[in-house]
Amino acid sequence: MVYLILTFLLGFFNSSLLSLSLVLPPTHLCRPEQSSALLNFKSNLSASISNCGRELHVPSFRKTDSWDEGTDCCKWEGVVCNKKGNVIGLDLSCSGLSGSLLSNSSLFSLQNLRWLNLAGNYFGNSEIPSEFGKLRSLTYLNLSDTGLTGLVPPEISLLSELVSLDLGQNYPLLFRNHDFNMLVQNLTKLEIMVLDGMNLSLVVPYSFLNLTISLKHLSLSHCYLQGNFPTQVFHLPYLQNIFLCSNPNLTGYLPETNWSGPLRLLDVSGTSFSKGLPDSIGNLKHLKTLNLDSCVFMGSIPSALGNLTKITFLDISGNMLQGQIPDVFGNLKVLSFMDFSSNNFSSVLPSSAFNLTSLTFMDFSSNFLQGTLPNNISGLSYLRKLHLYANLLSGGVPGWLFSLPSLEYLDLHSNKLNGPIDPIQEPNFVLLNLTSLDLSFNNLSGNIKSCMLVKLRNLSSLDLSHNSFLSLTSCNNGANSTLPMIIEFHFSSCNMQRFPNFLNASKYLQVIDLSNNQIHGSITKWEAEGWENLVTLNLSMNFLTSVEQIPGKHLFVLDLRSNSLQGPLPTPPQNLSYLLISNNELVGEIPSKICNLSFLSVLDLSKNKLGGTIPDCFGTFGDQLYVILRTLNLNGNQLEGSIPQSLKNCYNLEVLDLGNNNINDTFPYWLGTLTNLEVLVLRSNRFHGDIQGTFSFSSLQMIDLSRNEFTGHIPPELFENLNSMKDIQVDKSGPEYIGGDYYQDSVTVTMKGSDFELARILTIFTIIDFSSNRFKGPIPKAIGELNSLIVLNFSHNSLTGNIPPSLGKLAALESLDLSSNKLQGRIPMQLTNLTFLGALNLSHNNLEGPIPLANHFDTFTNDSFAGNPGLCGFPLSKTCGKDQEPKSPPSTVADESEIALIWKIAAMGYGSGVVLGLSMGYIVFTTGRPRWVVKMIKRNPEKRMRRRIHRNGRRED
Ligand SMILES: *[C@@H]1O[C@H](CO)[C@@H](O)[C@H](O)[C@H]1NC(C)=O
Ligand SMILES: *[C@@H]1O[C@H](CO)[C@@H](O)[C@H](O)[C@H]1NC(C)=O
Ligand SMILES: *[C@@H]1O[C@H](CO)[C@@H](O)[C@H](O)[C@H]1NC(C)=O
Ligand SMILES: *[C@@H]1O[C@H](CO)[C@@H](O)[C@H](O)[C@H]1NC(C)=O
Repeated sequence: MVYLILTFLLGFFNSSLLSLSLVLPPTHLCRPEQSSALLNFKSNLSASISNCGRELHVPSFRKTDSWDEGTDCCKWEGVVCNKKGNVIGLDLSCSGLSGSLLSNSSLFSLQNLRWLNLAGNYFGNSEIPSEFGKLRSLTYLNLSDTGLTGLVPPEISLLSELVSLDLGQNYPLLFRNHDFNMLVQNLTKLEIMVLDGMNLSLVVPYSFLNLTISLKHLSLSHCYLQGNFPTQVFHLPYLQNIFLCSNPNLTGYLPETNWSGPLRLLDVSGTSFSKGLPDSIGNLKHLKTLNLDSCVFMGSIPSALGNLTKITFLDISGNMLQGQIPDVFGNLKVLSFMDFSSNNFSSVLPSSAFNLTSLTFMDFSSNFLQGTLPNNISGLSYLRKLHLYANLLSGGVPGWLFSLPSLEYLDLHSNKLNGPIDPIQEPNFVLLNLTSLDLSFNNLSGNIKSCMLVKLRNLSSLDLSHNSFLSLTSCNNGANSTLPMIIEFHFSSCNMQRFPNFLNASKYLQVIDLSNNQIHGSITKWEAEGWENLVTLNLSMNFLTSVEQIPGKHLFVLDLRSNSLQGPLPTPPQNLSYLLISNNELVGEIPSKICNLSFLSVLDLSKNKLGGTIPDCFGTFGDQLYVILRTLNLNGNQLEGSIPQSLKNCYNLEVLDLGNNNINDTFPYWLGTLTNLEVLVLRSNRFHGDIQGTFSFSSLQMIDLSRNEFTGHIPPELFENLNSMKDIQVDKSGPEYIGGDYYQDSVTVTMKGSDFELARILTIFTIIDFSSNRFKGPIPKAIGELNSLIVLNFSHNSLTGNIPPSLGKLAALESLDLSSNKLQGRIPMQLTNLTFLGALNLSHNNLEGPIPLANHFDTFTNDSFAGNPGLCGFPLSKTCGKDQEPKSPPSTVADESEIALIWKIAAMGYGSGVVLGLSMGYIVFTTGRPRWVVKMIKRNPEKRMRRRIHRNGRRED
């Protein structure tokens, strides 16, 4: 858009020059001092070929090349003189000039200048010389995109003849409020003001109140404006265009009454403009572009919107608008772009929008729209993109959807559409231009025959996933290529029975997702041929028993999780980064050729029947110096032997899960050098011996040593360096999980005595589980420093001594299990400080004395305390004697307030939900078969692109 304004201004300028030069007599006019001033100006700058980085189609040349001494300067490129031979116009825009604009520049001796355009040159970080104030005759000044910096000099206000001023695209050119005030007061003839991309953070928007009445064009996008924009500006009688976009701290609202005038373009997108859309908007009879995207507008849409008969671009997306969308679009004959997405509209689709004959883009997605798609439509013959996803639309898919001749993108995902999608198979099916079709997450049914897709010859992305009654079968005539341009093919969680080998000739295919279907048996060599470009293959959650050959030579992600694969591990392609075959029935040893996979980042072979030892080539992948491996999950196999020490070369290892095997080793303290290790699971093996050595484990947030044969004391030093269990800063922007886009690590943890599978691990979830070993001696006090620890389990050991009061400093603790040990003494009062504690088990120890009753401690039941004959008081039936009254905690008052502070801060950070309890916040349970929503390429990238363009102020829709 900025570019458009620029060309508009240049056009304006050039045509003025043109009309002027027509009346000039063809004689040698140039006054010598003017000529030498120009040459002097030229000689102080260097010139290079420039196209301003924009006008790529315009052949570039240097205007100043024609400036030769001794020739008539009035004939030089970009120079205009008046009859007396004085230079009155200079257009050196995009002339590749660079250097400094100095205050003694001869430019400022050209006192007759009326037009000056230096846009698109580079005056490398010079300031605007105050001498500009000498050019009193200037009516047009354009210094945009010239790398100028510093403060705009107050002398600019002396240019009281200015009609047009453009200082845009010069970040960080700064205006002081006072100087700006002077400017708007003094430039009474100003019609065009363009300051996009400048820094106006010091300007109080109130100053715009003094803008001259003659203003026609005001452009202030990306200006760091803050505060309230005066509504009166919208009433300026000649104002045609106003851009305020991308000033997120600018508040304001649209005039509610008496709003009329010649306004053609109104763009307040990406600001904090709020309140409602006023009825008076309907008076803006000349409005062509209305962009209110990503503001805070509330309330409903006025039906007066239907009076904007000249509108071509209408974007009210990303607000908090609600209620009915009035069905008033019938007269918007020239509307080509409408975007109502990401609001809270709850009506039916306005059928008049489907009769718009000029529309090319329609987006009503991410609302609560109900009802069916209209049955009869008479417009949309130019529609290229239709987005209706993430609504509550129901009913069938009407035939017209598949006969829109210009349609390129159709996205209806995440609705409640049902019935068959026969239209795809209709004879009048004309979606020849369709490149992207997404009908995923609906209730569509029926069988699509592959040969019926033949007309979609430009389709590059097809997503029919999560339509559980939809199936796809090959036609009898075999392996005809039906989708020659397809790149992404998503058919997850449908009712597909067979591997779609009809796609074999689709040579551009990169992503196949057939997860969670009914594909049985084997993938044969023949089926696996082709697909040179395949990057991602997801066949997880099917019933495959063997894969003769893995498709795709350049495969990056292979996901065969949760099938019934038997026999040894299939040979993976060389470039594989994600090898995911957990939950199958693989047997044999892990072949050491797996270490030839130089790019392996995640290896998940958990829950198979693999035996033998872990190959000791790990850490020497493909002889690379840089080992990528991030996750190694071998949990739930029958592996024996010890942990190969070569693993310490896997610097990037974040997750090491060797749980539930038969590994016979001592504590691998040497893993402590892996500074990225976050999860270490050794549970249910035959680890033994005392835990000793030097420890760092600086990133560790989960350590599970449970159900082994470890002995000796729990070494206090272990806890000293667990820095990632201390002072965790909670990222308020939402939950984050361990793992990347494609694969999120999962793990099994024990809480309240039961095992839970965490499908994903929050980066703020922390756990120490040393239960069911033979640890003895006291609980180290040092553990109290881990103020971000959430689950602590030392149960089923032989720990002795008192419960250290320092446990009361574990401000984030939600689950504490010390049961079945030999702990003695009283339950320290400090434990009642654990505000988030939802599960407590101290049973089967030798604890004695009264159970503290402060805070929410009285919500724990008998089970938490049973099997301690010496304990008394609620909730146990045994009452305490007089001498056993619960004591106030010893003088740790300072400590306590500190604790209160910690958890209050934590509470603010965690936000609602998470603080309420473990099961709500930290855990994503797998309930039966998880619903995998796996997409390498995120949804609707196109919309995002549009938003991005727009945020840069260069929206070119
Ligand atoms: C405003 O313009 C007038 C006329 O050019 C000039 O005399 C005056 O100094 C200007 N005021 C400021 C504050 O620049
Ligand atoms: C507008 O200009 C007048 C002087 O002409 C000044 O007194 C007033 O404060 C200015 N108003 C704003 C909002 O800057
Ligand atoms: C908005 O305001 C916040 C807080 O004053 C500030 O940190 C931020 O930089 C501002 N953003 C813009 C674009 O002006
Ligand atoms: C819209 O136009 C109709 C017909 O010209 C008129 O009756 C109605 O008052 C207008 N509404 C608004 C809000 O301008």
